[in-house]
Amino acid sequence: MLEPYIVVLGNEKGGTGKSTIAMHLIVSLLRQGARVASLDLDARQGTLSHYVANRQRTKHTFDDLLVPEHSSLLASTNPNRISAEQEDEQNLKKLLENYSSYDYIVIDTPGNDTFLSRLAHSFADTLITPLNDSFIDLDMLIRLEPGEIEKLRPSTYATMVWDQKKEKACRSGSNIDWIVLRNRLNPLYSKNKEEMHRILQMLSKRIGFRLLAGFCDRVIFRELFINGTTLLDLKDTGTSMTLSHVAARKELSDLLSALEIPVQKKIKTQQLANEAARVSA
Ligand SMILES: Nc1ncnc2c1ncn2[C@@H]1O[C@H](COP(=O)(O)OP(=O)(O)O)[C@@H](O)[C@H]1O
Ligand SMILES: [Mg+2]
Repeated sequence: MLEPYIVVLGNEKGGTGKSTIAMHLIVSLLRQGARVASLDLDARQGTLSHYVANRQRTKHTFDDLLVPEHSSLLASTNPNRISAEQEDEQNLKKLLENYSSYDYIVIDTPGNDTFLSRLAHSFADTLITPLNDSFIDLDMLIRLEPGEIEKLRPSTYATMVWDQKKEKACRSGSNIDWIVLRNRLNPLYSKNKEEMHRILQMLSKRIGFRLLAGFCDRVIFRELFINGTTLLDLKDTGTSMTLSHVAARKELSDLLSALEIPVQKKIKTQQLANEAARVSA
């Protein structure tokens, strides 16, 4: 049986768009006819879980929105660190096992370093790290010091990803496709934006990630959560499309194809073609 393809959304900083992008990816895969399971490891905050619950609640109002099979997993509260990590590992592996018949598993992680999050990274086939357009976010990938741009050193998060890549290679012999994208970009030109791009391009070769274009900062992203909908559902929910919505959907379809997430064999090619035509229409 084909193993599920696992996508992890991760970085050690909150508010960069992990849960928002996770939901868009989940809905895109569902609309292609795939069986999708989602897993919220940021269970204390529970943004993805609430997003899915909102969608479940409104699904019949809007032409039967597709909803993933969803679970959330809280970290163990065992005061003994080693026992807590063993429990976490068992719980995560059990959930992944339960989802073994799915085509995709999308895992959202918290904006801080936890054992569960690290472990989830080691199961990723694709890791997506969204960054806000600020040097503070860049500091998550490299230690930035004034005037030392050329001597950048990987930061704790980048080092952690490297460790999990090694872990995965030892376990299964396969690689993690690490993708970094910039989210909430100001559509206007700025020197900061250009400098961020230059540094990220340089880092992508040094640290080993693919740099993809993300999303501009758009109000629509903040409005979708309440109904559990995404940019892909706008037509089905009868939302009148503005130019900004059209531009946002273009950014999304560009991102989804650049992610190069493999099509699982169970999805019918015709369904894929239909969905691509709908998104670009
Ligand atoms: N491209 C965007 N434009 C505007 N707001 C965005 C965008 N992406 C995310 N947001 C908003 O930013 C906030 C943080 O997003 P979220 O997905 O919860 O981040 P994380 O999961 O990394 O903490 C939310 O209020 C969300 O609606
Ligand atoms: Mg989140």
